[in-house]
Amino acid sequence: MGDAAKGLRGNAQRATRRQPAAAAIKVPNLIRTEHLSSGCKDNRQAVLSLETIIDAYRRYAPMYDKLFGAVLEPGRRALADAISAAAPQRVLEVGVGTGLTLDRYPSSCQVVGIDICEDMLAIARRRAERLQNHRIHLETMDAEAMRFEDAAFDCVAVPYVLSVTPNPRRLVGEIRRVCRKDGLILVLNHFSGSRGWRFLESIARFASARLGFRTEFDLVDNVLNHGWHVESIKTVNMLGLSKLVTIRNR
Ligand SMILES: C[S@@+](CC[C@H](N)C(=O)[O-])C[C@H]1O[C@@H](n2cnc3c(N)ncnc32)[C@H](O)[C@@H]1O
Repeated sequence: MGDAAKGLRGNAQRATRRQPAAAAIKVPNLIRTEHLSSGCKDNRQAVLSLETIIDAYRRYAPMYDKLFGAVLEPGRRALADAISAAAPQRVLEVGVGTGLTLDRYPSSCQVVGIDICEDMLAIARRRAERLQNHRIHLETMDAEAMRFEDAAFDCVAVPYVLSVTPNPRRLVGEIRRVCRKDGLILVLNHFSGSRGWRFLESIARFASARLGFRTEFDLVDNVLNHGWHVESIKTVNMLGLSKLVTIRNR
């Protein structure tokens, strides 16, 4: 590993450990991120199947907004603010769930939301019907095998989905395919090692299938190591629980 990559690895690790809430880290523009080594020494990432996920979110659907609405809202707000500032024409939200971000997208853009769980999507559909000034289209689809053409979107938002989907690497491949070149990709997720959470993450790991998400999820392996252009990493949500990563599709 070269000095530059070592430096960036240090940045990424510090980002996961010590970022104060709502602070932004700038990742140096000219450094590619393929060669960073993971913060995880062993591969502790839990295995999840599509059936497990559909089943978990079918159970969550009636109470999802109460359980994960307010607590994860600052992250959604930061994501929607970044999208509003970029003013894209076509936005894809992957794993739209119950549609908690839909009313925050600018009404000037066309929004497509997809999810694999019909029960979650049914709630999003009711929400979208109430947003009459917005252009929203919702569809049941596996984000790891999307039916969209290449470069169909200017912006792809991925709020709290990357640590849920069965194969995060395959999902990243699909996001890059459907996002136009130089388009904006926003990954909002919990990553391992946030202050005070490490112990809880490791004991909850065995319940990942039941919980419907991985409690241990490495930022370097799952986001920084894809060779795309990471513009910034911002810590969001209570106790620095999540990060919003802003990426250019290059
Ligand atoms: C934690 S929820 C996040 C929902 C919403 N984005 C939010 O901000 O609350 C994860 C969602 O991703 C969906 N999901 C997981 N893997 C998926 C996949 N491969 N394709 C489509 N949706 C998926 C789940 O069904 C669930 O609705």
